Amino acid sequence: TLIYLNGEKVDYENAKIHVEDRGFLFGDGLYEVIRVYDGKFFYLGKHMERLKKGAEQIYLELDFGPDTLLETIKKAVKESGFKDASVYVQVTRGTAPRQHAFPSNVKCTWLIIVREAKPQPQEFYENGVEAITVPDERWTRCNIKTVQLLANCIAKEKAKRAGAYEAIFHRGDIITEASSSNVFIVKDGTIFTHPANNLILHGITRFAVLELIKNNNFELREEPFSKEKLFAADEVFLTGTMTEVMPIVKVDGKIIGDGVPGKITMKLIEDFRKLTE
Ligand code: PDD
Repeated sequence: TLIYLNGEKVDYENAKIHVEDRGFLFGDGLYEVIRVYDGKFFYLGKHMERLKKGAEQIYLELDFGPDTLLETIKKAVKESGFKDASVYVQVTRGTAPRQHAFPSNVKCTWLIIVREAKPQPQEFYENGVEAITVPDERWTRCNIKTVQLLANCIAKEKAKRAGAYEAIFHRGDIITEASSSNVFIVKDGTIFTHPANNLILHGITRFAVLELIKNNNFELREEPFSKEKLFAADEVFLTGTMTEVMPIVKVDGKIIGDGVPGKITMKLIEDFRKLTE
């Protein structure tokens, strides 16, 4: 593990932030998780774009400059020596006496953690995994990748306790996304996924997979779909930086389709692999 805090390389024991950092007190910060495959970044530019956009939306000034962040990320990955890595990037509004309104003249806290990435077990992709559904109890600005992830953590913990891989959120009757991935279903050859609005994170992997879908000329509809439609789907799969393209074969104990990863899912997994080779 290699850590850069505010642009300085620090060892694990000394990687510390102040108790009044607003990330700690208020969850007042943003993050990204970026994957490196064989020394190459996967859509690094898109991650930087999303971070910048999120910063604008929460009135956070990235005072260190986006180029500094980008260069430090590249330097950190190089120094780590890891060919396959996950890069965790977090930026908070910085340290100031606790008060809700934003402080002035405060510098951002920014953190980069590089870890070696282990691929998930191959059998997950071959056999598929299980999911549960949980109510989407998050706020309504899920497009902003904030570090306020308690609802996501509770959802994932519920999945873990149920022996499932992921928790799929429903807001009322509508399936939005999952605790740390986006959700797609296939019905009669048409692929459905929730539109990229304020109710979901606009996943970079989601974006990459939409391109693959277009290249295959698969029928795609970016529109909300119901929980009922999820259970009636022929195929269900997730997308995410660490999840990649993951087939779901059971939801809430009910078998999806034939109970094995579907044809379209398998093709997208294959195409996705090619992107990362
Ligand atoms: N999670 N939806 C949510 C709620 C997420 O937290 C994530 C990513 C995604 C997928 O986005 P992307 O394809 O850009 O990784 C969708 C990261 C990996 C995490 O929290 O660790």
